[in-house]
Formats: sequence, structure tokens, C-alpha cells
Amino acid sequence: MHNLTLIKGDGIGPEISEAVLKIIEASGVKINWDIQTAGAEVIEKEGVPLPDRVIESVKKNKAALKSPVTTPIGKGFRSVNVQLRKELDLYANLRPCYNIPGVKTRYDNVDIVVVRENTEDLYAGIERQVDNDTAESIKRITRSASERIAKFAFDYAVKNKRKFVTVVTKANICKLSDGLFLESARKIAENYDIPLKEILVDNCCMQLVQNPNQFDVLLLPNLYGDIVSDLCAGLIGGLGIAQGANIGKDYAVFEPVHGSAPDIAGQDKANPTAMLMSAIEMLNFIGEVEAGNAIRKALFKTFEDGIKTVDIGGSYSCSEFTKAIISRL
Ligand code: NAI
Repeated sequence: MHNLTLIKGDGIGPEISEAVLKIIEASGVKINWDIQTAGAEVIEKEGVPLPDRVIESVKKNKAALKSPVTTPIGKGFRSVNVQLRKELDLYANLRPCYNIPGVKTRYDNVDIVVVRENTEDLYAGIERQVDNDTAESIKRITRSASERIAKFAFDYAVKNKRKFVTVVTKANICKLSDGLFLESARKIAENYDIPLKEILVDNCCMQLVQNPNQFDVLLLPNLYGDIVSDLCAGLIGGLGIAQGANIGKDYAVFEPVHGSAPDIAGQDKANPTAMLMSAIEMLNFIGEVEAGNAIRKALFKTFEDGIKTVDIGGSYSCSEFTKAIISRL
């Protein structure tokens, strides 16, 4: 029996969590879930969007599966997601992005891994209203965080037999902040046989759309990593299938790339694949590799049999799709 935390989230979060829990249960892996809530609903009862109990639960269990949590846009409380990553020092956001059999896209053989720095940059939340008509956000980049994430990217590349790492910046304009990120990547690269390539983020976006097959591991500061990983999700069929993980020295939180999708929440339309693939990585993390492989096989077979949710060109609901996966397990 494994003890793990589940952060259910909001929007489509509860629907996709329920789907994934059913599939994991059907795989035979025994998990004792500590279900935690966070976000807007929690503020009303507990005064804060991310109570200490959530952090303590992940610390106790070492790993968590997390659904998206809505962040108010342009006002309101700070992102629960950003705060969670900072408090647990989950410094690496790992987002593998590859074609899934049976899911048609414009591109074949996409196989990119996005490694995004997860703790600083414009996400440090250092903002101020200078006067009524002027606001400032500080883009904070440190050598220690930049070297740490560069080392993570290279270690990942070695472990997973990847060919090269491309560091993505705007160091021609942000000469100090992105300059430091680039300099750190160059320094760390000296310790590895794997080559480091360099590209500016605007060109990177264009190249990704024109020919994604030219990229392998992408190493990015926080904001570019956030944007480019959504772009990469688009290359393989959309956010409904893009998995992710937040990894630190002591803990890991597995969650899809996508947000809470309020436009389809509560309609049984959400694609649980991104959450399921994130959960498969979590099963690998806790040593349940065989069960993870079995779930992945059942998922891919479901796609190959033409059973898909609406976002990727199918007509099945979230619950029908979930049943189809379970019947193939
Ligand atoms: P989003 O990722 O929620 O949705 C973008 C588009 O993709 C929408 O049209 C949505 O319907 C679709 N989509 C996303 N996931 C899907 C799925 N599993 N199945 C089918 N379609 C799916 O991005 P948006 O609308 O910009 O953000 C909504 C909220 O989510 C915001 O409050 C944002 O802050 C939050 N968010 C939370 C994240 C997290 O908890 N890690 C990450 C990203 C955004």
C-alpha cells in the first residue's frame, strides 16, 4: 500500500481526478490517497488558498498527483501552483512531449522534453504598482537556480540517452537575467559529453512550428518554459494529452500541463489523458513500473481503436473514455 497525496483541484480537476483514480484502482495498485483541497473554495473556509495541511501532506507522502487549480486573472490571490512549487522547492518542471499512437496531428515523430525552471523568473511574484498608470514585475534569475536546472536537464539527457540540450533565452535583450541563465547553462554543459545548443525564444517558437523534429531537450527559464510547453502540447494534439511533473530534491508533484479549463468544466467533456500520463510517471516514481506500463498500453490501445474525447477529434465523453481504458487493462 502506498500513501500518496491527491490535490483534486477545481474546474475539470475533479472529473479527471475521478477518472484517473478509477483507472489506477483497476490496475491493481493499492494507494491510500490523502485527498487535499486548495484554491478559491478553500479561501472561504480557511482564509488562504493553499493551507499548510496541503504542504504537510506532500511532505509526509513525498509525492502527489495534482489536478489544475484556477488562478484569478489580473487580480485576486497568488497562484496556488506557483506557491506549491516554491514551498516544496520543486525546482524542475519536466514536460515530455511526444506523439501518441492513434492521435493524429500535423507532425510525426515529435519527441521533445521541456525542462522548465520552476521557482523564479517573473513567477517570483515581485510586482508593484508604481502609480495609477504604471506597474512593474521583476524578472529575478539567480546563478544557483540556473545552474541547478541546467544540471537537471543534462542529467536527464544522460539518463534518458538524449542527444543534445538546447538552452532557450532572450539574452540579446535581457542581457543580465537571461544572460546569467545562458552563462550558467554553458558552464554546466562543460561537465557533460552531450552538446549544448543555443537559441533565442522567438526563433525557437517559429522553428518548433516549422520543424519540431530538430529539437531534443529544451532548457528554459520559467516564463518561456510555460509558454513553449503549451506550444509543444499543440504539436502533439493539444493540452488534453500533455503530461508534466514538478520535481525537487525531496518531493515530486505530478500534474498535467493544462489548467482547469473552466469552459468545459462539469460537462463530462474533459480529456483525462494528460492527468493519466502524469499519473503513470508518478507510478514509475513509486516503483510501480509494471502497472504504469499496463495503463499506458491500455490507453494507447483505446486511441488506436478510435476511442477519443472531443478535444482530439473524437466523440466520447470523459467517463466513456475512462471505461474504455479500464476494459482494455
Ligand atoms: P487551460 O489549460 O485550462 O485551457 C486552455 C484550453 O484547452 C481550453 O479551451 C480548454 O478547454 C482546453 N483544455 C485544457 N485541458 C483540457 C483537457 N484535459 N481536455 C480537453 N480540453 C482541455 O488554460 P486557461 O483557460 O488559460 O486557464 C484556465 C485556468 O487554469 C486559469 O485560472 C489558469 O491560471 C489555470 N491554470 C492552472 C494550471 C495548474 O493548475 N497547473 C496550469 C495552467 C493554467
